[in-house]
Amino acid sequence: MVVPKKSWLSLAIALVAVVVFTVACGDDEEEGTPTPSGATGTPTGLTGDLEIFSWWTTGGEGAGLQALFDLYPQICPGDVEIINSTVAGGGGAQARQVLTTRMQGGDPPGSFQVHMGHELIDTWVTTDYMEPLDDLFAEEGWNDIFPQGVLDIVSYEGHPYSVPVNIHRANVLWYNKSVLEANNIDPPESFDDFFAAADTLQAAGITPLALGDSEIFASTQVLETTLIGTLGADAYNGLWTGDTDWSSAEVTQALENLRKMLSYVNDDHSSLTWDQANQLVIDGDAAMTIMGDWLEGDNKAKGFTDYGWLPAPGTSGIYDALSDTFGLPKGAPNPDTVNCWLKLVGSKDGQEAFNPLKGSVCARTDCDASLFDEYLQSAAEDWQSDEIVPSLAHGAAASPAWAGDINDAVTAFITDPDVGTLQGRLADACVAAEVCE
Ligand code: GAL
Repeated sequence: MVVPKKSWLSLAIALVAVVVFTVACGDDEEEGTPTPSGATGTPTGLTGDLEIFSWWTTGGEGAGLQALFDLYPQICPGDVEIINSTVAGGGGAQARQVLTTRMQGGDPPGSFQVHMGHELIDTWVTTDYMEPLDDLFAEEGWNDIFPQGVLDIVSYEGHPYSVPVNIHRANVLWYNKSVLEANNIDPPESFDDFFAAADTLQAAGITPLALGDSEIFASTQVLETTLIGTLGADAYNGLWTGDTDWSSAEVTQALENLRKMLSYVNDDHSSLTWDQANQLVIDGDAAMTIMGDWLEGDNKAKGFTDYGWLPAPGTSGIYDALSDTFGLPKGAPNPDTVNCWLKLVGSKDGQEAFNPLKGSVCARTDCDASLFDEYLQSAAEDWQSDEIVPSLAHGAAASPAWAGDINDAVTAFITDPDVGTLQGRLADACVAAEVCE
């Protein structure tokens, strides 16, 4: 699988620009180049505990993680006990709270799941909680194996700080094939198609759009895909650099589209998780859902095959991207075991074992496409040819504080769907992030 270096490069430039604007007052000074205390070559005789912290608790998430754990003894010989520390909750908001308490209290896990981009850099790197991984990247040849744009986004001041295990796509509309067919509906490409399909489904007593936003990221993700689908890639990117006006008529139109889309969701959305919402689609009680391609891993884990997919309305040709990564916290217990975990996470074997189960494509450029199913092969092709934009809901587009303000605005909108109020809060959030004036 080949990935588009050019698009990532421009994305990286945009992200770096946003970092420059939004990085809080953290101590930006480099500490020389501290070397992780663990050896990074082929390890022998590793012992002790290795705690891996994540929010991967659902079917495909757990299966992918377990595949990595199963491979660990082969790549990292010895007698290491892996402790699977998970904090449930899609999108990771709860996990991040627990992680923050632990990191600030001097109790880091061995390694933890963290999104590439602002979430990694703003939260943990500029604040000096992470070890640089230059030696590991050099020894493993990763500077030639990961796309340059990805390398840029996991790096700060020229040093890599985490190892990307995958690339996920956030802007996917998933549907139950039989339900759409039974109602003579073609998978909707535009907002107008979507609204027409939704009216037909509603008249037939089927929930048009399944949503599970007990964790607000799911609705924020619908906001982000609707912004992309209404504004297009360039203007969406401009939202994160100050080049697109949050108060513009185009953003108003996007938020009107959002309001209308959310009028077609299940009543119990705020008590369901994203995977419970997917269950509505699997059961045929709902026809469609907008979710990242970890949903494909959920379908696989549940043995559901009667699904189709297409880019969320208006987003054809655009890849709304995010990446799960792992790094080495300063003061991590047993750093040798962690370094070997990172080596595994970045390896071809590791990525080929993990990603087909997780519903993501490799961050590496050399994975064997034949190991991946039809959806993932199509995603890998799109990743190569589409325009890449950064995900808001998953740590790539905005600083954590800014994304938090947007989540709060979306939460309020769910209760009281007033477009003017939401647009005002989004404009204010950009000012608070010091990206807009
Ligand atoms: C994302 C994460 C994915 C998946 C999803 C749902 O933030 O990047 O790997 O786990 O949340 O939990």
